[in-house]
Amino acid sequence: MSSPLRMAVLLSGTGRTLMNIVDQQRAGKLNSRIELVIASRPNLVGAQRAVAVGLATTVLDRRDFASVEEHSREIFARCDQAGVQLVVLAGWLTLLSLPQRYENRVMNIHPALLPGFGGKGMYGHHVHQAVLDYGCKISGCTVHFVDNSFDHGPIIVQQTCPVLDDDTVETLAARVFEQELIAYPQAISLFEKGKLKVEGRKVRIAGP
Ligand code: GRF
Repeated sequence: MSSPLRMAVLLSGTGRTLMNIVDQQRAGKLNSRIELVIASRPNLVGAQRAVAVGLATTVLDRRDFASVEEHSREIFARCDQAGVQLVVLAGWLTLLSLPQRYENRVMNIHPALLPGFGGKGMYGHHVHQAVLDYGCKISGCTVHFVDNSFDHGPIIVQQTCPVLDDDTVETLAARVFEQELIAYPQAISLFEKGKLKVEGRKVRIAGP
């Protein structure tokens, strides 16, 4: 097996997505290693969980930087220093300005089927509330490469689940999250194996 892919995880929340990746790595289901965790605010539960499992963790608070560009410059400089090959956004809520060298090397997961219910302001319970208000019969999650717009880059993997008549935001979010636990490791594993080829908006999955 080739040497583990060097990964950074960026988070703004509770770290469930991070812990799923850690669990998959520890179970030998992913061939990657988290070199660096970056939190967008101090005192995040996600950062505390990262420290608790021994991950190098740093806070780069957007409010300490004059612009998105300056914030991003520091984030990706830290990734460079750690030799990071893939950046995984795990509940990251701050806009990034992507340097060209990281194009198709940054992934995000969104808790809906893009291009529906994405974009600015569509995060957390807002997404599931909008899906319920619209009367959708299915929802799910989308893993995509990141570009300079929220929830916009080429789609790698999508997983679906039903929306039930008696769903609340909480029950729907929980059902979607079960799919997230499957979809993100799938996408990361395909990246690790070099199977993702991006052609414009389309991500082709190579091989069997
Ligand atoms: C997930 O629902 C994910 O889709 C979205 O943010 C949430 C992350 O949760 N991008 P957590 O912070 O990992 O617990």
